[in-house]
Amino acid sequence: MTEAQAREEISRITHELERHNRLYYVDAAPEITDREFDDLYRSLVTLETQFPALKSPNSPTQRVGGEPISGFAPVEHPARMMSLDNTYSEQELVEFYERLRKLLGISDIPVVIEPKIDGVAVSVIYENRELIRAATRGDGQTGDDITRNARTIRRLPLRLPADAPAGRFELRGEIFLPTAGFAKINKEREEEGEPLFMNPRNAAAGSLKQLDPRITARRPLDIIFYGIGLAADLELREQIELQDFFKKCRLPSGDKVWLASNLDQTLAAIRELDVLRHSLPYVTDGAVIKVNSLAAQAELGATSKAPRWAIAYKFEPEQAETRILSIDVQVGRTGALTPVANLEPVLISGSTVARATLHNQKEISERDIRVNDVVIIEKAGEIIPAVVKVLKEKRVGDLPVFVMPPECPICGSPVEKRGKLIKLFCPNPYCSAKIKRRVLHYASRGAMAIDGLGEQIVEQLVEADLVKTLPDLYRLELASLLKLDNFGDDKSSALLNEISKSKGSDIARFLFALGVPRVGATLARKLISHYGSVRKLGEASEPELMSIPGVKKVIAKGILDFFASPENQAMLAELETLGLPVNAEKAESAPADSTKAVLAGTTWVITGTLSQPREAFNDRILAAGGKVSSSISAATTYLLAGEKAGSKLAKANSLGVKVIDEAAFEEMLGVG
Ligand code: IVH
Repeated sequence: MTEAQAREEISRITHELERHNRLYYVDAAPEITDREFDDLYRSLVTLETQFPALKSPNSPTQRVGGEPISGFAPVEHPARMMSLDNTYSEQELVEFYERLRKLLGISDIPVVIEPKIDGVAVSVIYENRELIRAATRGDGQTGDDITRNARTIRRLPLRLPADAPAGRFELRGEIFLPTAGFAKINKEREEEGEPLFMNPRNAAAGSLKQLDPRITARRPLDIIFYGIGLAADLELREQIELQDFFKKCRLPSGDKVWLASNLDQTLAAIRELDVLRHSLPYVTDGAVIKVNSLAAQAELGATSKAPRWAIAYKFEPEQAETRILSIDVQVGRTGALTPVANLEPVLISGSTVARATLHNQKEISERDIRVNDVVIIEKAGEIIPAVVKVLKEKRVGDLPVFVMPPECPICGSPVEKRGKLIKLFCPNPYCSAKIKRRVLHYASRGAMAIDGLGEQIVEQLVEADLVKTLPDLYRLELASLLKLDNFGDDKSSALLNEISKSKGSDIARFLFALGVPRVGATLARKLISHYGSVRKLGEASEPELMSIPGVKKVIAKGILDFFASPENQAMLAELETLGLPVNAEKAESAPADSTKAVLAGTTWVITGTLSQPREAFNDRILAAGGKVSSSISAATTYLLAGEKAGSKLAKANSLGVKVIDEAAFEEMLGVG
């Protein structure tokens, strides 16, 4: 291939990849499979290796990170990046509005109201429709050049569409971690015994400050644009016009913004956002109110720190005061010990909270948390409640300091420290706490979906020594079940029947059920579609595993360790003999076309608590030909609503969008 041909081919593949990237991450409507995407991606890597001079800094291959950097260069902002003044009550907001009235000499001032996203402010510059720089705020004049890290954000366009303006312009936005991504990262860190991030903002800031862009690439960061910096040629007249501008340029923008023409409408919008924010995919601690007319913005100007034309309105934090009644130490599936506080139950934003994680000994010691202390707990988004503060002034008497036990509270084995990890682990593979967690995971709805194998029954089976390993489940006999409390003929046979039925399970579900560290339902499906069987996955090498997008080193290592363990090998051999799909190959023609078409032409929104992570439903809807969207509109066909569905449910009802629950969903897909 000549260099000219290579240039053309690289340009073609680049456009294809960016288009598929957008279809996947922005429109949630992929047109090709992961496998096809990987093949295309690899062909680009090959060409770039052959013709290194043709590799663009905005190549899709840069989305995974590339070589580490030595530091962040300071860069000057084309226009000062300001912060915002805060208000904490409607009264203060009314005062802000009064000031605008006086300064502008009009009584009704159109303003835009947007969610205030809790992340890291960025300035992003495009020129000739190419992303050329992303920088943090720094001191407002000078920030850090974080372009390499920003390029890894999948929803940030590296190139703008052909009808976007070609000049140089600067945009402002927020890089953040969606609540689900934050919870996922912290769960992984918890399992690995690494220190947890306090909140999504710290996690986003920490992710952007990585000198190794490959680490940033693995954090599910996202970006939303909300403003312009230096943008002389854009010919905009109103703040609200930015929304259309962003859409036209395919730049991610806020899910919901309001244009209010007077004070009453402004207050109404803020109250609406206060309800809606609980169902947004990111943490919002407030609203930002901006004067709509850009001419009026210029007229109002700024103080030394903040513009006079905008203000932040902070919502009441979701906190509550309560008392720690006791501290339990839980043992997880991996053996990690986690201290959990039992609280005097309190109500936080509509739900009762009776437990809060204390993470680890270090956290407890640093905050000096003791049993009987009065504490402030906080619940952000869907995140597990956490103790944010001990009210030391309310401590009565001499409370004993809490120390983690030297032995596993369940099996009594001496606990272990692992490497540099803060967490303690129970090393006993047969610790009943671990067995219970493992079996519960195996039987859970997203895994083997064994009906009737719930918490209490697993407890009985493990306590009675009937189940010590997963294969033991398939060796249960009617006679031994009948000896257990509350086990009659019907219940026992039904359970045996359900367990036996699980032998016919889907291979990807089976892999997920095995509990390979860090292999969730979605990755399990990806791995099976790549390798075809559990056995073949077990034979994969580290570099091979890591060539699969989304498989980072710790994941690859987790998989390798899992299959290298003699206990797990023995378990797989037993499961194979018992008729489970260890060697079974996935059928080649993935979902048959008839299954594929089931949801064709439908658009879905997912909300509330479901039996599996949302992505799992997302994937299944896409696989069946449907589309998934994050917000409800008249174009939505179905709302899949789990428990505690909030404002989306209300909106669906008001728009007449059909609401279905998980059972109905399974039925539609022919699984129910
Ligand atoms: S406008 C000069 N809009 O909040 C006006 N800021 O506390 C600059 N933020 O530095 C900001 N969401 O990092 C604006 N919709 C939004 C925002 C937003 C989050 C952040 C931004 C800013 C900080 C000020």
